[in-house]
Amino acid sequence: MKIERFELERIQSEWEHVVRYNLSESGVEPMSVIELLGDQSQRSLLENKLGYPQTNGSIPLRELVSKQYTGATADNITVTNGGAEANFVAIWRFIQGNKERNEFIIQLPNYMQVWGIGKAFGARVKPFWLKNNGSAWVPDFEELKNSISKRTCLIAICNPNNPTGTIMNSDQLRTIAEIAEDAGAWVLSDEVYQGAELDGKTTPSMFDFYDKVLVTNSLSKAYGLPGLRIGWIASPSKEVIFDLWAHTDYTSIAPSMLSDALAIVALERKNRERIIKRTRGILRNNWSVVEHWLRNNKHLFECIAPQGGAICLVKYSRAIDSVELVHRLIQEKSVLLAPGDHFLMPHHIRIGYGHNEEHLVKGLESVVELLISAS
Ligand SMILES: Cc1ncc(COP(=O)(O)O)c(C=O)c1O
Repeated sequence: MKIERFELERIQSEWEHVVRYNLSESGVEPMSVIELLGDQSQRSLLENKLGYPQTNGSIPLRELVSKQYTGATADNITVTNGGAEANFVAIWRFIQGNKERNEFIIQLPNYMQVWGIGKAFGARVKPFWLKNNGSAWVPDFEELKNSISKRTCLIAICNPNNPTGTIMNSDQLRTIAEIAEDAGAWVLSDEVYQGAELDGKTTPSMFDFYDKVLVTNSLSKAYGLPGLRIGWIASPSKEVIFDLWAHTDYTSIAPSMLSDALAIVALERKNRERIIKRTRGILRNNWSVVEHWLRNNKHLFECIAPQGGAICLVKYSRAIDSVELVHRLIQEKSVLLAPGDHFLMPHHIRIGYGHNEEHLVKGLESVVELLISAS
């Protein structure tokens, strides 16, 4: 198995803790343990024995997760180490060694983990683009219909989408389900930004539209808890969930005991509501900063306003290559952003706006300064 470099994660891994202004992060400012616990006693948490937890996630945790999916129980969920492991085992289980169905259709632009793993496991990867029609990002269903066949194993979508922040509505999800059903394909729906909507309306889950679906999600983005490394896969098929659990025996065995306990705290109803409210508040506040900046620099940038996630994809009007632009920003301004080329979107940059407001303002100013000096 030969892996391509996952360029986005590489640049973040190398620079996110080195630069002064990090606008590459796609979630919101993380919560502290104290903030997460709120008025809850810390005693029971500290008394936790640091053994192996139930390897697919404790029953209380899986029960809490299952409440988010109509008709699901703990057996419809397996807990993983972040959405990253969830996506990994799902693609491994469905693609590797599948000679009859080796095609993998991926919505683009996207978080390119799915693209890289699909290729590494030998899939024939095909795009299904979100097209910019000038006022919205619209899924190209004709392209999907033309690409799908009885050899298609999986269709991967990301909703809300990384990097555009656009959200597909129920009708659009239903259309994807119908197209997938005709070909007997499964859908892998990455929903890590569900809950991080600017208008406060929760994104519909593909779980409600199709039986052959694997929904992946985590506490990293909408909950601001990436350090817990808690993710999950939800599927109406308990057999597939059981099988995916068996795959995690080979990857990480189990989530961490403390993370399982803290994830239970995060997902208890009162806390979950508090956390999601915090996330949406940060997004609304910080998006207004980006909007203001875009308005003041219309000659340099174009952007379709995101509906969810702490990210937006901005097109810039200068000739400089996006990877070069980002490296110059690191070196000359100590600012990190994600280059559009890492999403197959040249002449774009992805801005993460979910963190410190002051850093956001400074980072955005630096992008303008550099683009002006580069032209
Ligand atoms: C769309 C998407 N899915 C999955 C992940 C993986 O994140 P985590 O493993 O922290 O859940 C990311 C991280 O940026 C992401 O953007």
